[in-house]
Amino acid sequence: MSAEYLVNGSVAVITLNNPPVNGLGLATRTAAVEGIRKALADDAVKAIVITGAGKAFSGGADIKEFNSPKALTEPSLHTLIRTVEDSTKPVVAAIHSVCMGGGLELALGCNYRIAAPGAQMALPEVKLGLLPGAGGTQRLPRVLGLEMALNMIVSGTPVASDKLAQTALFDAVTAPGADLLAAAVAFAGTVADRRPLPKVRDRKVDYPNHEAFLQFTRNTVKAMSGPFPAPLQCVETVAASVTMKFEDGLKFERERFMQLIQTSESKALRHAFFAERVAGKVPDVPADTPTRDIRRAAVIGAGTMGGGIAMNFVNAGIPVVLLETRQETLDKGLATIRKNYENTLKKGKLTQEKFEQRLALLSGTLVYEDIGQADIVVEAVFEDMGVKETVFRKLDAVMKPGAILASNTSTLDLNRIAGFTGRPQDVIGTHFFSPANVMKLLEIVRGAATGKDVLATTLALSKKLKKTGVVSGVCDGFIGNRMIEQYSRQAGFLLEEGCLPEQVDKAAEKFGFAMGPFRMGDLAGNDIGWYIRKRRYVEAPAISYSASADLLCELGRFGQKTGAGWYDYKPGDRKAYPSALVDDMIVKHSADIGVERRKVSDQEIVERLVYSLVNEGARILEEGIALRASDIDMVYLTGYGFPLHRGGPMFYADTVGLPNVLSAIEKYAKGRHGDAWTAAPLLLTLAAEGKTFNG
Ligand code: NAI
Repeated sequence: MSAEYLVNGSVAVITLNNPPVNGLGLATRTAAVEGIRKALADDAVKAIVITGAGKAFSGGADIKEFNSPKALTEPSLHTLIRTVEDSTKPVVAAIHSVCMGGGLELALGCNYRIAAPGAQMALPEVKLGLLPGAGGTQRLPRVLGLEMALNMIVSGTPVASDKLAQTALFDAVTAPGADLLAAAVAFAGTVADRRPLPKVRDRKVDYPNHEAFLQFTRNTVKAMSGPFPAPLQCVETVAASVTMKFEDGLKFERERFMQLIQTSESKALRHAFFAERVAGKVPDVPADTPTRDIRRAAVIGAGTMGGGIAMNFVNAGIPVVLLETRQETLDKGLATIRKNYENTLKKGKLTQEKFEQRLALLSGTLVYEDIGQADIVVEAVFEDMGVKETVFRKLDAVMKPGAILASNTSTLDLNRIAGFTGRPQDVIGTHFFSPANVMKLLEIVRGAATGKDVLATTLALSKKLKKTGVVSGVCDGFIGNRMIEQYSRQAGFLLEEGCLPEQVDKAAEKFGFAMGPFRMGDLAGNDIGWYIRKRRYVEAPAISYSASADLLCELGRFGQKTGAGWYDYKPGDRKAYPSALVDDMIVKHSADIGVERRKVSDQEIVERLVYSLVNEGARILEEGIALRASDIDMVYLTGYGFPLHRGGPMFYADTVGLPNVLSAIEKYAKGRHGDAWTAAPLLLTLAAEGKTFNG
């Protein structure tokens, strides 16, 4: 299926047909060009309508062809648009639902455009680090004017057709419920003999004093686009629609497009785009795996995580009951959630009606029998196997058959937890990230006995909760925390060897991390890591850690929540101020353990932090804990503030080159705490074979 050709009286109708969104892949482009040629060759045809089958006019380039030579094989999108624009018979675009990217560029090549109301119009290429490369930057300003076109192209945000009804983009926007195709065919009939044919490329972009406006826009966009070059290039190419002749503008657009497509930022964004789409696809759990209905939920524990998790259900319209051990703790948990919604209401981000609807979906109890009918229960009690055991034994006794029993544990063995029940097939890990109502990531932990339908249901639920669900196998820390432990170890060693927290954080933040390791520790609570290390000292005494973090915790400096951590904090202010006391403590610790402090370069800091993630990621991949390298990247992009323009740790390692990563690791293996740098076998193999993680 690609495009259909039908003649309706004297009007030929070409219907793009490439589900799901009529992507303009090679077969569709070829069929559309053939359709135009056929219509031109048929004397009975006086006008042509192009529309899209199903749920879109066209969503633009076919993402399946993205990195393949097919994308450039003739007829290219340029050729298709040129064929349409050069047609000697009028071409009318009949636009509905979705008209984006190449789809909108194609519509701009038509002589006339008729839209159904509510059609989403966008040139979203900037979101992939690109610019519209098939004339969009030259044609859109010619119908919308400079300012509006710039807004759409630089932001990539869709605008509804009705909002653009008064612009030259449309010849008509039909009434709600009207038959768009019938209207377009009738319109084509009325303009069949009208000459000359109107062409967008013949229009001029008038903007008095455009240079001043463009300069202002450049400054604003530059300040807002961080490390990404595409937004500014969008401005430059749109500017060319004012300052250059149409054909020169097209050439300029092409040039800049070809430059952008080679940038590491665009490659990273495209990687993240595909990674998000494949995350949650599990080879032995096909898309048609039956799922269970989730109509009611329960959450055990109304603490930091339980409250946020409950909000996720409420936001998705699923009623939720919170269970606690004491009335006081329950009331506190419920009050925190209410306060959260009140703040959203005050900010105007929630209507009074929605606010009330949400609160009505929330209730609390101290009695397990009250939650027995829930379809899913998420446990978020203390991170202690004994407490988890009590809870899961109780859940096994009260929950209805078929209920999903989920645990939010961040490090404990899910298989042991499942073993506390007589229904391990119903047990799964749902590892939310803090704050759970905000963070996009949901690690879905598949236990040895987890049922395929339970996994499929949880994956579907993650979409309903607007999370990026990534499947992880069972291991200590799962994907994200297992890797971050290696990163934190390196951060600690760096302190012993000569760094102070601020230097490490600054280097990490310059690389692009949302927060360096020490600011992150202060935000999350340094006591969490302390608790885990204390367990490790007993269970795995061979693993080395710097004692600096323990010394910090012994001072009660747990982070922002205690008003002091690696940094000092002022009441009501999240800004981190370097602490002389902590810095002295770090320097003294080096002396105490006989380490002569040295100057550590920012490059070394970043390499040690990032490559420790990569090396552990390689192990996780090899062990099958993560299904694919891009899943690890998704975990880091959505849960750990890894810089988006670097595409995630595994993708970043691929761009650096695995032999380069390996030689750095081998160098650090010869330094202090070299035991932390045993290269992962998978990294050794891939580097030797000249391959990449993301293959
Ligand atoms: P928290 O200490 O804030 O809350 C735990 C809540 O569970 C408390 O309100 C407590 O009263 C309640 N509770 C304890 N035993 C109970 C029982 N037997 N029945 C009912 N309620 C009980 O802890 P937090 O931070 O919310 O952590 C909960 C779980 O989530 C842990 O497994 C933790 O590892 C995990 N987690 C925590 C993250 C974080 O950033 N805090 C991130 C991801 C997971």
